Amino acid sequence: MKKITRLVQAAQAFDTASGGVVVPVQPATTFLRGADNQPLNPANTYARDHNDTVRLVEQLITELEEGAASLLFPSGMAAIAALFRTLPTGARIVLQQGIYWGTTNWVRSFAQRRGMDLAEVDMTDPAAVVQALQGAALLWIETPSNPMLRVIDIAVVAQMAHQAGALLAVDNTAATPLLTNPLTLGADVVMNSATKAMNGHSDVLAGSLTFAQDNTLYQAVQSDRAEAGAIIGPFEAWLLLRGLRSFALRVERMCQNAQKIADALAAHPNVPAVFYPGLADHPGHDVAANQMQGGFGYLLSFLAGDTRAQSLQVIGDLQVFHRATSMGGVESLVEHRHTIEPYSNIPENLLRLSIGIEDVDDLIDDLTQALDRL
Ligand SMILES: Cc1ncc(COP(=O)(O)O)c(C=O)c1O
Repeated sequence: MKKITRLVQAAQAFDTASGGVVVPVQPATTFLRGADNQPLNPANTYARDHNDTVRLVEQLITELEEGAASLLFPSGMAAIAALFRTLPTGARIVLQQGIYWGTTNWVRSFAQRRGMDLAEVDMTDPAAVVQALQGAALLWIETPSNPMLRVIDIAVVAQMAHQAGALLAVDNTAATPLLTNPLTLGADVVMNSATKAMNGHSDVLAGSLTFAQDNTLYQAVQSDRAEAGAIIGPFEAWLLLRGLRSFALRVERMCQNAQKIADALAAHPNVPAVFYPGLADHPGHDVAANQMQGGFGYLLSFLAGDTRAQSLQVIGDLQVFHRATSMGGVESLVEHRHTIEPYSNIPENLLRLSIGIEDVDDLIDDLTQALDRL
């Protein structure tokens, strides 16, 4: 079956009891044992370890990512933290420079507390990457990166990591598992903030890790999740399942809209630069064209005018885009990223867009009228 068909029909995987066309939520925290003291259903004993709805979503994400096993978490950051927590104290970690600020910020603080040797590396400099990987346990990358849309060649970087004996983990949130499957390109673990396009309705926090193999790393993270208790609630897992049913259609439309918007912005005289891998002059375009199947994603950034004040004027004049952080929902969002991460060298006139599924002409007209006023 094609992924879109699997997604659309995923919520129908079971409910033979009622005949309902949609699976029910399983809210039970604990599960009965029979008179013989054996669990009535051997798959379920306690909700910190087992939940049918969570399992169903994990199975679906494993198929989407073409991996061996997945684990669902109550947020993308909880998924990231769960993976890093399996690394030994003192381990060397290599982190791509200029990725999602929340990841950088947390990893910096975690590495310091755990006596880890953290190297933040410019992934466009292969010599620096090879140097940084010496003795490393893990390389963490994000492609396309948020908010600068830098594209990393996953297959090339996987080889570099493995030659150095390091694992490669990829944050696939901006690409989505519909456009890129890092595990098929050699990555060991892939993370998705399911809060974004996978759920797609800006109403659930969730995150996932998918592993290339059902190995000791997967088992370590699984035990840590059950024992430390970073479990997604069954209602959130069910909502995510509902969101996933329209995931493929939404991503297709978001990518089409984003491409047209990037083209329109690139042609506007008050836009000095557009960062979108679908543009032929983007430095990562060729790698993205090879690595991303079916579109270049829903995330793009651009410089609005030449100054902070001008970009704030543009964001203030937008009528259709909602001014809010996050991304991947059906509604288009705009954010002045420097307001959120003033410490990370983000250009002060950069606006980040998350493109939704609205009529693209409404979105282009909105951006054009705001930019025309500069
Ligand atoms: C690229 C990327 N990775 C990870 C995260 C963290 O995900 P969550 O907010 O679900 O914890 C975000 C959140 O914005 C993100 O943009």
